[in-house]
Amino acid sequence: MLPSTLTVVSHPLVQHKMALLRSVDTPTREFRQLVGEIATLLAYEATRTLEIEPVKVTTPLETMEGHRIPRDRIVLVPILRAGLGMVDAVAALFPNAGVGHIGLYRNEATLEPVSYYFKIPPLGADKVYLVLDPMLATGGSASAAIAKLKESGAKRIQLISLVAAPAGVERMSRDHPDVGVFVAALDRQLNEHGYILPGLGDAGDRLFGTT
Ligand code: PRP
Ligand code: URA
Repeated sequence: MLPSTLTVVSHPLVQHKMALLRSVDTPTREFRQLVGEIATLLAYEATRTLEIEPVKVTTPLETMEGHRIPRDRIVLVPILRAGLGMVDAVAALFPNAGVGHIGLYRNEATLEPVSYYFKIPPLGADKVYLVLDPMLATGGSASAAIAKLKESGAKRIQLISLVAAPAGVERMSRDHPDVGVFVAALDRQLNEHGYILPGLGDAGDRLFGTT
């Protein structure tokens, strides 16, 4: 059974763009653009329950009560490297968002995350942290990143990933049952190297043109 913390965003636009993203024939420039577009659509869902506050607005005709998201409420936290590909698109939705960075890479032999960088903006009790990483494979990287965020005092955290494997989803619900996980696709399995099948390959390499 899928954990209640998981949301698979199956909107037709997301599915359409995911098929393009997965294709081995999609070149770097288009891949980057698609990562941003899908991240935008997932961020829309992941922030559906954000609190809003009333604000007085004067239209050309009269004054009314509108609503706004409190300033500085959102902090974006990409997991380096591949999460960087999602930042600009989500930041376009939340122009006042702070951005923290968590540097982690997977040891290719053990698949365990290795931490090399951690810097986040000053904490605030009400802040909502959107952790960004296109791939949730074993879940080791996301779980470790979120554990570090929590150690720093973050309380309200959501993970946004493009593709998840069942193992990563299980790991997240076990280690962080309080964290919502928003994905565009839940794939079949991991291969023996910890890659998601069918997946899309190595997200960092495809984003940055490395191999
Ligand atoms: C990829 C991906 C995730 C991680 C997922 O990063 O961007 O951070 O693997 O795997 P996991 O769920 O098994 O931990 P990678 O380690 O390849 O680093 P990179 O982004 O710097 O290429
Ligand atoms: N990291 C990736 O970039 N792709 C995978 O399939 C698994 C981990």
